Amino acid sequence: MPDPLIAQALAGLTSPATVIAAAPGRVNLIGEHIDYCDGFVMPFAIDRSIVIAAAKNDSTIAHLRSEGMPDAVIDLSVPQQIGEPHWANYVRGVIAGFQQLGHLIPGFDACFVSSVPGGAGLSSSAALECATATLLEGLLGVSLSKKQKALLCQKAEHEFAKVPCGIMDQFASTFGEKDKLVMIDCRSAEVTLVPFENPDLAVIIANTNVHHQLSDGGYAMRRKHTEEALELLGKSSWRDVSLADVEEKWSALGDPVNRRARHVVTEIARTQEAAQALALNDYLLLGKLMDASHDSLRDDFEVSCAELDVMVNIAREVGMSGGVYGARMTGGGFGGSTVTLCLSEKASAIMQALQERYRAATGIEPEIFCSRPSAGARLVL
Ligand code: GLA
Repeated sequence: MPDPLIAQALAGLTSPATVIAAAPGRVNLIGEHIDYCDGFVMPFAIDRSIVIAAAKNDSTIAHLRSEGMPDAVIDLSVPQQIGEPHWANYVRGVIAGFQQLGHLIPGFDACFVSSVPGGAGLSSSAALECATATLLEGLLGVSLSKKQKALLCQKAEHEFAKVPCGIMDQFASTFGEKDKLVMIDCRSAEVTLVPFENPDLAVIIANTNVHHQLSDGGYAMRRKHTEEALELLGKSSWRDVSLADVEEKWSALGDPVNRRARHVVTEIARTQEAAQALALNDYLLLGKLMDASHDSLRDDFEVSCAELDVMVNIAREVGMSGGVYGARMTGGGFGGSTVTLCLSEKASAIMQALQERYRAATGIEPEIFCSRPSAGARLVL
């Protein structure tokens, strides 16, 4: 996380900060739309964060400010409810979680700053929730387990942002570590930190700068399709479903539920295979699995969009001869970002190709950067 962000957060306070908290966004290498299907996911915390600087104010009121957003005032002496401005609902949701644990939160002034692009599929909302939870830990002098904190933040997203998300984003933001992937078994909610430190490998994140309105309803609808499919398959967990099971019930499931089901089972298998490929340093295979993941998200799960496909196709055109192992959309989809695994020495040329060719094809200026796995949510002060 760049220090200027901390300086900016401090500059937004009128009194000296007593607590500073930071939490990162995430990118997911593989395992998409299966965190709510008992699958495996392989995200890492990126080096883009939300930083909050705060000072207690001897009241029961929280005054929140964030550049470019309306200020928010929250009464901490009452149970939280959804309100205005909208961005503060993520904060209210996390406060509600701490209140439900029996904590009385002291009044504070806080300034929020962010280097996580919003609406880019990089989990700026999870970063906001996890930074808020970490700030409250600091203000209260308590410490939740990482898992408890991530689950509290997920609940905030469900209840105060009304997004029925899985556990990936909040777990990645909380458990992230430098040079580590956060591999999550979403059935047991167990985290394994997998080293990802080969300097020859780079990860490029390409934000298409489009965010289609469909996203919120589309996400809930996909989740509903997977629940319907599991019920029709007569199973209690996707981990017990094989591709043969889906094929056998193909017409009973009907379209598009059968294709949604095929994505879930094939993506769970791909992610397990990707973990093995990584352990064997087989990046060619890992890249192929990322490519196949994108195709499945585009054709079977239908959460890609024209701009994401353009960005992925440019990376594929550059191909292995240009240093690209594989590319796919990352996150919830319907816009947002792609993730490209490539050779470090070719990363600049690849980024330039993505930038220029995407702009030429769409007329939209993308935002393209590299990130290595970075630290998770933490107190800076
Ligand atoms: C969003 C959700 C996650 C996950 C991804 C898709 O980021 O918040 O829980 O479902 O979409 O993999």
